[in-house]
Amino acid sequence: MATKVTGVTEGSPPNPAGGKTRRPFLVDLYRSAVGKKYVMAITGIVWLGYIFAHMVGNLKVYLGAEDFNHYAEFLRSGLLVPIVPEEFALWGMRALLIVTLFFHILAAYQLTVMNRNARPERYQARREYVAADFAARTMRWTGVIVLLFILYHLADFTWGWVNPAEAGATPYEKLVASFQVPAVAAFYIIANLALGVHIYHGGWSLFQSMGWNNRKFNHWRRAFAIGFAVVVIGGNVSFPLAVQFGLVS
Ligand code: HEM
Repeated sequence: MATKVTGVTEGSPPNPAGGKTRRPFLVDLYRSAVGKKYVMAITGIVWLGYIFAHMVGNLKVYLGAEDFNHYAEFLRSGLLVPIVPEEFALWGMRALLIVTLFFHILAAYQLTVMNRNARPERYQARREYVAADFAARTMRWTGVIVLLFILYHLADFTWGWVNPAEAGATPYEKLVASFQVPAVAAFYIIANLALGVHIYHGGWSLFQSMGWNNRKFNHWRRAFAIGFAVVVIGGNVSFPLAVQFGLVS
């Protein structure tokens, strides 16, 4: 988030009747700023893992159409088969991604509202705003760009609504057809740069949110946040560029 929240913990109000009607611990925790930050960090970690694995998997595009399509098919129906039925893992992963994305956005929104309410004095807000670095200040906007990107990306590759390839095209053909359109390639590159800024700040602040913020490890945190963002975004940006320059066709 753009600004710091100083640990606001509410807890269940005391019960006047003295009975045992406290809210469950997790609900109580989520109502506090600290709990929402945990939720942001944990759901962020799930997505960081997915984004990393997704980029590594997509590198198969450099091995050629057959390898890439085989891999895409394996992800769709073959993952964890025969331990689980076909497509079971796919739907499990989709459910996890949807639920974690929902709570990531909800907690971000609620933290912003809590922040605003906790700082009624305007000059104080401005001071913190200036102190925050570029990535931190832009979290909301990079987040919105990434969300719009995900929706476009699904319409492009998963649902095929906006993909220029013919019906029944393979994942490889869809990828090439999409990235051959300069505007689409440019959009993917811009959106992935926004994602890079977002996961750089996210990768840095998740340690803080989880309470893993011993000063001695700060340079490792910074190295992790930068290294992770550069590797993932470097890989992702390379795909539309490779198609535009004719290296993948
Ligand atoms: C240029 C980089 C990327 C390429 C080439 C790429 C490629 C693909 C491909 C080929 C599919 C599979 C479509 C299918 O067969 O159904 C897919 C699905 C998906 N991608 Fe990407 N992707 C990229 C970046 C991203 C990023 C940055 C995110 C997240 C922020 C993302 C999230 C997803 C999701 C959520 C799905 C749907 C998975 C499912 O079907 O459940 N992708 N992507």
